[in-house]
Amino acid sequence: MSELSKKGQGREEILSKLEQYRADDLAWRDGHCFAYVYDAGREAERIGREVMGMFSMENGLDPTTFPSFKRLENDLMGISAAHLRGEGAAGTFTSGGTESIILAVKTARDRARALRPEIAAPEMVLAETAHAAFHKAAAYLGVKAVMTKVDPVTFKADLAATRAAIGPNTILLVGSAPSYAHGVIDPIRGLGQIALEHDLLLHVDGCVGGWLLPFMRRNGEEVPDFDFTVPGVTSISMDFHKYAFTPKGASVVLYKDKALRAYQFFACSNWTGYTVVNAAVQSSKSGSALAAAWAVINHLGDEGYLKHAAEVRKATLRLAEGINAIDGLSVMAPPEMCMFAFKAEGVSVFHIIDEMKERGWLIQPQMRFGDIPENIHMSVHPANVEWVEPFLADLADAVEAARGLPSGQLAAMIQDQLASIDVSTLGPEQFSAFMAMAGAGEGLPVRMAPIQEVMNILPSALSEALLINFFNDLFTP
Ligand SMILES: Cc1ncc(COP(=O)(O)O)c(C=O)c1O
Repeated sequence: MSELSKKGQGREEILSKLEQYRADDLAWRDGHCFAYVYDAGREAERIGREVMGMFSMENGLDPTTFPSFKRLENDLMGISAAHLRGEGAAGTFTSGGTESIILAVKTARDRARALRPEIAAPEMVLAETAHAAFHKAAAYLGVKAVMTKVDPVTFKADLAATRAAIGPNTILLVGSAPSYAHGVIDPIRGLGQIALEHDLLLHVDGCVGGWLLPFMRRNGEEVPDFDFTVPGVTSISMDFHKYAFTPKGASVVLYKDKALRAYQFFACSNWTGYTVVNAAVQSSKSGSALAAAWAVINHLGDEGYLKHAAEVRKATLRLAEGINAIDGLSVMAPPEMCMFAFKAEGVSVFHIIDEMKERGWLIQPQMRFGDIPENIHMSVHPANVEWVEPFLADLADAVEAARGLPSGQLAAMIQDQLASIDVSTLGPEQFSAFMAMAGAGEGLPVRMAPIQEVMNILPSALSEALLINFFNDLFTP
């Protein structure tokens, strides 16, 4: 159906077509996927869905016309500020981690414009494990991302490297609690100390950990302080749509106080229409994700999160132990929450992923980066808890099967040609030819290992250009 239907279609017809459309989507409710979805069960899902419908047509553009929006947001921000122990902290509801991070960087940039106008080319210092959203913010906002290497054993931000990266144009430091790639918590206290010494802002990316880590701490786990109690922390992002298990489109960015948050806001009365004042990126917006986040967190409640936190933590530790016991596999850093990465020796991680896919599991590849080898990421969530042992059994089997498969030929062939490629001179045809050579002609093959192996060896400028070209083609009606 790529043409608008001439006659309007009935509800049944519409719903049945949409069911057909999603026939090939990931079957995430079976507890077999370790990325993309954070699933706390059918009742939480049902409540989230119902509430999304209740608030889909209203408009958050103007919370004085729809005061329920203000109420919902203030409730969520109050809960979040208390959760992150920020007395006087003030936040904004956003559509996701990326928007929260973009806004935190914008706030830092606009504050610097006001208070340090001598800085023409602002910079932020972040570890190589900080989420790609910071690079997106850098690209969107004209703030340079100055990257530091992490400690090669712990995969945590290196404080000496952070200090060394600070220059006269630095406006912001970044830490993760935890980082997505390796699931470890940066030394936030040390970063806070450096931020204070240099009079800089410090953003803590708690997109994955902000909500669940405090529950883990209350369960008796050792969780280092990463919140507003740490001197120097000035803002924190925290997603509801990850480890608070709410429908997608739900995050928060919090600042230590309202005065700092004000740099994030935008107002415009410089046109012929209605005056605009926006807290975040969107202007007109539904209340679906906001109300659903409110509903799901109140449905699960304090006790529900304590229970989920205990269960996913236990499952994570057992998974890490079981993976370390499989010949050739090793977890790269002990998980501090419920995500981690593992690498493989003598066998391709990309074949392991394909073999696991054949056995019904979804695990995520992470490409080689500098000295850090390619590896497999796992985000453990409540739906996975009862599948730990079957997963480990299948993984052992998949590793054996993957050992027998040839790997790396295409990548090696391409590697030889890489030196002569100048990305800036390549056009869409060359990119498409390249993708076809790597095995992705019309769409993607079922077995992704050959393509992943090629992507794994490409310099980032080339792989980014290829991906953009691929997406540009993918979205063709
Ligand atoms: C640590 C971290 N920060 C930021 C993000 C970006 O969040 P989103 O995908 O909701 O935009 C993610 C996503 O996985 C993340 O893991």
